[in-house]
Amino acid sequence: MALYQTAAGILDRLQQKEGAVKTLVYDSGYKNVRQLYALLCETLRYSTVIEEIIKSSELLRGPKKLPMNLAKVLVYDLLFGKGLQCGGRWKSTILAHRARLQAELAKLKVKKKVSNNQDLVTSMGGSLDGPALPRYVRVNTLKTSMDDVLTYFKRQGYTYLGKARSIKELIDFGQKSGKSFLQDLHIPNLLVFPPSTDFHKDSLYTAGHLILQDKASCLPALLLDPPVGSCVIDACAAPGNKTSHLAAIVQNKGKIFAFDLDTKRLATMSTLLLRAGVTCQELANQDFLTVSPCDPKYQKVSHILVDPSCSGSGMPDRMRVLTEESGSDQDERLQALSAFQRRAVSHALRFPSVQYVVYSTCSIHQQEDEDVVKDILEQHPDFRLVNVLPMWPARGLNTFPGSECCLRASLSETLTNGFFVALFQRRSPEEKR
Ligand SMILES: C[S@@+](CC[C@H](N)C(=O)[O-])C[C@H]1O[C@@H](n2cnc3c(N)ncnc32)[C@H](O)[C@@H]1O
Repeated sequence: MALYQTAAGILDRLQQKEGAVKTLVYDSGYKNVRQLYALLCETLRYSTVIEEIIKSSELLRGPKKLPMNLAKVLVYDLLFGKGLQCGGRWKSTILAHRARLQAELAKLKVKKKVSNNQDLVTSMGGSLDGPALPRYVRVNTLKTSMDDVLTYFKRQGYTYLGKARSIKELIDFGQKSGKSFLQDLHIPNLLVFPPSTDFHKDSLYTAGHLILQDKASCLPALLLDPPVGSCVIDACAAPGNKTSHLAAIVQNKGKIFAFDLDTKRLATMSTLLLRAGVTCQELANQDFLTVSPCDPKYQKVSHILVDPSCSGSGMPDRMRVLTEESGSDQDERLQALSAFQRRAVSHALRFPSVQYVVYSTCSIHQQEDEDVVKDILEQHPDFRLVNVLPMWPARGLNTFPGSECCLRASLSETLTNGFFVALFQRRSPEEKR
């Protein structure tokens, strides 16, 4: 029951605008953070559908008053999720209504002229930008190889459709359900499955051979591309998906110094890195801004990844709609966030041997993205932007000369969460002259 009660409590707090989903999940103290986060994301995605079913089935009528948000998470898991896993005293109430709830779902599909759940969500505005986010799976080359994973999925009955040739092909594929998959067009070792695919119980996932990571969040480590054996800093690292990607790129050779302020998130990160077979890391529960660039320990650091706290405005739409703050609150929050983001990138550029610094956010706000990059370039003339991934279609907003070197990502343009990335490179001595 704790799972559903905690999820319902977070839905209440979201409605009170007390924070973003991820923050509330971490603050809840619930042990299985991934399970809780997944349940919330999916309940929010299905929210309109679930509300309609709850209304038409009259689930909330009757002597026992089931709270709305608790009803929502229970109905989600019963009809669209893994089936009720617990549920305490409310389980019997929900199960007594099971046939009615299923009948209302079937009626709704007939009314909306759709045959599957995904199409139902889309037809009821669950995905405002159009396509649904596919399930991206990064093959962890520290533990396995692309060939072995392809063979594994084919044996599981999946049809392999080869490497995608265009974003359009990915978008068309994103509308599909069923057992087929593609290799991604831009990111090596990334597979693309239909949106509804769930690998949380898959043995390759639980053994750390597969990492469930959105495509856009694979960009920072890919673009930083530290050579095998190099010394790297991950400045704001937890829960560690980008650290594990960096470790795969350096093939566990060299060193990754990873910092995070949040003890709980660092603990989750340790578990994740252990499962992913990462051995080249040194984790520290430390404010990155207090890490001294003069410390001999970091003299060889040549590459730094800065993925600081941000507004998270690039996360899926329903959650954004539910967590959006009012104008002045948001302005204040964005100012505070972007001030920290500037300090974190500036600090990274002060490490004596650093050649490349990648900056990323999962925000779509110019204040946290292009504005930060513009100020950094003005303050640090020794660095310039690298024009990364020329074939990537969405570029930085045209707010300063060179902004097109930055990447943006969105559901509609790149079939990913909203994201921003910029890569800084130290100018060569010749260039400086
Ligand atoms: C966007 S998340 C990082 C996600 C991570 N890079 C990943 O891919 O899993 C931002 C992180 O920055 C951490 N953070 C915030 N302020 C920090 C600081 N001053 N020093 C180090 N970490 C900080 C937060 O605790 C949070 O875990």
